[in-house]
Order: sequence, then C-alpha cells, then structure tokens
Amino acid sequence: MLSPPEPTGTEDPFELFETWFKQAEQSGIVLPESMTVSSVGEDGRPSARVVLLKEYDEKGFVFYTNYGSRKGQELDTHPLACLTFHWNILQRQVRIEGRVERVSHQQSENYFHSRGRGSQVGAWASHQSQVIANREALEQQVSMYKDKFAGGEVPLPEFWGGYRVIPDCIEFWQGKADRLHDRFRYTSDAKGWKVDRLSP
Ligand SMILES: Cc1cc2nc3c(=O)[nH]c(=O)nc-3n(C[C@H](O)[C@H](O)[C@H](O)COP(=O)(O)O)c2cc1C
Repeated sequence: MLSPPEPTGTEDPFELFETWFKQAEQSGIVLPESMTVSSVGEDGRPSARVVLLKEYDEKGFVFYTNYGSRKGQELDTHPLACLTFHWNILQRQVRIEGRVERVSHQQSENYFHSRGRGSQVGAWASHQSQVIANREALEQQVSMYKDKFAGGEVPLPEFWGGYRVIPDCIEFWQGKADRLHDRFRYTSDAKGWKVDRLSP
C-alpha cells in the first residue's frame, strides 16, 4: 500500500498531489481526474457535483463549466469551494479547499478551442442547469448553432469558461488497516505551508 511521506513541516502539497494523481492515472481507475466540487448557495444550502480537473499547478486546480449554471452562480456569489477526489483502488481521498476565481479569458479560449467541435457546439446549445421542455428542444438548439457556425470556428461563449480553486488547505487521506488511516492536512499562511497529522 502506497503511503504519503511522514509530515516534516516542509513538504510541498502540490508535489504530493502530483505524485498521487499520477499514481491514480496509472492505476487503471476510470476518470481519475473526476472530482466533486462543492459550493454554497446564497441561502447557505450546499450543493455538489462531479466535474473534470483539466489543469493544475501551484496557482490552483482548474475546471471548465457554464458560468450561468447553478455552480457558476454559487461560486460567483460565494467564491469558496471544496474539491474532493476519491481514488478507490488506492484507498485514497484528497480534499482541497480555497478561494475561487475565474481563469483568464485567454486560458478559457485556449481550452475551449482544444475541445472537439461537438463539445464546442454543445456548450452553446446548453443553458446548463435551466429547465428545458424536452430533449427535442435541446437538439433544436444544437442544430441551430451547428448551422450558425457552419464553415467557421466556433467562438468561445461569453457564459462559458474555467474556474480556478486556489487552495489554502489540502488534506490527503490514505486508507489503512483497522480504520487507523493516515491523514495529512496541509494549510497555508503568509509563511508558507505547514502540515499536521490528523486523527483518523
Ligand atoms: C464524470 C463527470 C464529469 C463531468 N464533468 C463536468 C465538467 O467538467 N464540467 C461541467 O460543467 N459539468 C461536468 N459534469 C456534469 C456536472 O456533474 C453537473 O451535472 C453540471 O455541471 C451541472 O451542475 P450544476 O447544476 O450544479 O451547476 C460531469 C459529470 C460527470 C458525472
């Protein structure tokens, strides 16, 4: 069983995340990049959904979505989020908490244009999280946008793009026998990251 290093007070959580993420990619887990994004509504009601991690580095963890969706509205109102990964074969969980910001327009452009044309048209056709009458209504929107952009590039919709979660707390959980799991919580302040071992 793979284990995180013992906390010394100097470890870099991004390095550990990268190690674990690569091991998850190599483990055969389907969609190791899927993660639950939790947000909070104006009334304090929490909500969560799965999205795909598309980029990560020391600046944060990025996913793409419709800015008008429920999550988009909640994150714009309360720009704090929690991301959760569960890599079951490895008995691992990672929880990432922090402030949220939209990525730059250029970064969203770059990612949008790397997607297949079908997904680009789909982004235009879906008013994500809105009520629609039936499947046909969605398919009509798809045909309409296919025609509209026929023969040219599909532009980035202004209501679509990335969010970056800038972590100030990352917890790594490694399952162990007898429920005596290892938990390492990294928290950041002006001086940098510190790590604590938490009771399972
Ligand atoms: C495996 C998986 C990956 C998904 N990836 C994304 C994604 O990257 N972006 C996205 O907007 N929705 C993604 N979804 C759909 C979301 O879970 C969700 O239904 C949608 O974003 C609307 O959420 P909201 O109404 O809470 O805003 C994914 C769903 C699954 C099951």
